[in-house]
Amino acid sequence: MKVTVVGAGAVGATCADNIARKELANELVLLDIKDGFAEGKAIDMMQTATLLGFDTKISGVTNDYSKTAGSDVVVITSGLPRKPGMTREELIGINAGIVKGVAENILKFSPEAIIIVISNPMDTMTYLALKSLGLPKNRIIGMGGTLDSSRFKFYLSQALDCNPNDLQGFVIGGHGDTTMIPLTRLATYQSLPVSNLLDKATLDKVAADTMVGGATLTGLIGTSAWYAPGAAGAALVEAILRDEKKLFTCCVSLEGEYGQNDICLGVPVIIGRNGWEKIIDFKLTGDEQAAFNKSADAVRNMNSVLAE
Ligand code: NAI
Repeated sequence: MKVTVVGAGAVGATCADNIARKELANELVLLDIKDGFAEGKAIDMMQTATLLGFDTKISGVTNDYSKTAGSDVVVITSGLPRKPGMTREELIGINAGIVKGVAENILKFSPEAIIIVISNPMDTMTYLALKSLGLPKNRIIGMGGTLDSSRFKFYLSQALDCNPNDLQGFVIGGHGDTTMIPLTRLATYQSLPVSNLLDKATLDKVAADTMVGGATLTGLIGTSAWYAPGAAGAALVEAILRDEKKLFTCCVSLEGEYGQNDICLGVPVIIGRNGWEKIIDFKLTGDEQAAFNKSADAVRNMNSVLAE
């Protein structure tokens, strides 16, 4: 199996590191536009092979897409990250040009690849990739809800003082601070509804903390986070290459599901060897559906910038 990660920055390198440690691929290519940058990161990572005991062969290239040929999965992380006080939406103009160019180059050499989009604003970048590449919709996956759901479970574990691995919970909708929807109603601790274990004020705080989870880290670190985003990207690569048929929240093309059309938005999907294989279209409450529709409006608004 061959995986390419485009963008050897904080998220891309962390994603690659996780892919190598788990030996998800025998060949892993890191590509970056910055001269020598991906080469350096790849050599540094390869020098951990004997320490960590992995067999994945990692190579780095500067903008040479021929070296990515025949990739089964491509993760796109190229683009600018958020600075403190900056919204994901502000990144749109710059990152749209980058993501479109990268995706087109990738497709020339890996026509069968499944593409995972991480670059922000992710919902819009996923829509852009879907529209500009003309690939079957199942092969374009946006990574956002996977990370947000993991953050949701982190904040729930803090409130419940429990192991986050005993929790289940989803964040659906857009990947923006105001557009994501942590589904507190459906979250469980083992099989116990967390809504029976935490009072409403605490649950509301968990939801609010989740929504600004990325911005909180940007404020603390000075740039956007990378450990969890990189691990979330690698978890999707793993589910694809190992054909796990696991349930994740991912940003995918909606054609009537959740009452939405012509948009890519975060919903629960089964991930396997064919990309996203099935949308789990469950019935939301009136309030949840209203929040989902509002989220869709905001993302659609951002998508309209692409046409300008
Ligand atoms: P970074 O600045 O550390 O790395 C980005 C890399 O992309 C740089 O090394 C840069 O040289 C490279 N790059 C820029 N233009 C390129 C091009 N045309 N071709 C190839 N490489 C190019 O940024 P970081 O922290 O890794 O974030 C990457 C992206 O991921 C940002 O857009 C950020 O907002 C987004 N992100 C998305 C998350 C999500 O949940 N979807 C979570 C965290 C970050």
